[in-house]
Amino acid sequence: MVRQAEPTDIPDIMQINQETLPENYPEHFFREIFDRYSKAFFVIETEGKLLGYIMCRMEGGVSNFGLRWVRRGHIVSVAVLPGYRRHGLATQLIQESTKALATEYNAKEVILEVRTTNLPAIKLYEKLGFQRIRTLNAYYRNGENAQLMAIQM
Ligand code: ACO
Ligand code: ZN
Repeated sequence: MVRQAEPTDIPDIMQINQETLPENYPEHFFREIFDRYSKAFFVIETEGKLLGYIMCRMEGGVSNFGLRWVRRGHIVSVAVLPGYRRHGLATQLIQESTKALATEYNAKEVILEVRTTNLPAIKLYEKLGFQRIRTLNAYYRNGENAQLMAIQM
């Protein structure tokens, strides 16, 4: 079941983040995002166990779809535990949070960065309508490139 995250979920969310992604953050990073953007912060829970999460923030910038300033949502991190993948859980998380970014925070587009080598995630985002915008060279600490992707709301 998808539900909004609660502050008490943060330890489990950090655990999932560490198991699934090379980008790990200190607890205060999760707390700050939760405090500011809790309405776009979701988890998947089954029988008391967290299986995945998505966290987002808002920012302003020049649109990826035309020369104008827009409020946009930014998917900071999304992950599902191995063993629970390919059941549509990330799809649900992304759909809920993009909807909340638009309705609660007035986002006109939503962006994210993903490793150019992370084909499962890129396929997932494309299936949900995100477009490849451009490559960000040496975006990650180890020098890997990111694919910037975006969708209009
Ligand atoms: N190979 C090919 N296509 C895939 C794969 C894969 N391994 N995984 C998902 N897809 C595509 C498929 O089209 C899939 O539909 P289908 O199963 O009917 O074929 C569609 O995406 C939907 O997949 P979901 O089941 O909704 O995705 P899932 O719950 O498995 O989660 C995720 C996908 C989040 C990428 C997961 O593999 C994961 O947690 N990976 C590690 C963490 C990660 O890479 N997160 C994204 C980093 S970028 C960022 O956070 C902004
Ligand atoms: Zn980002």
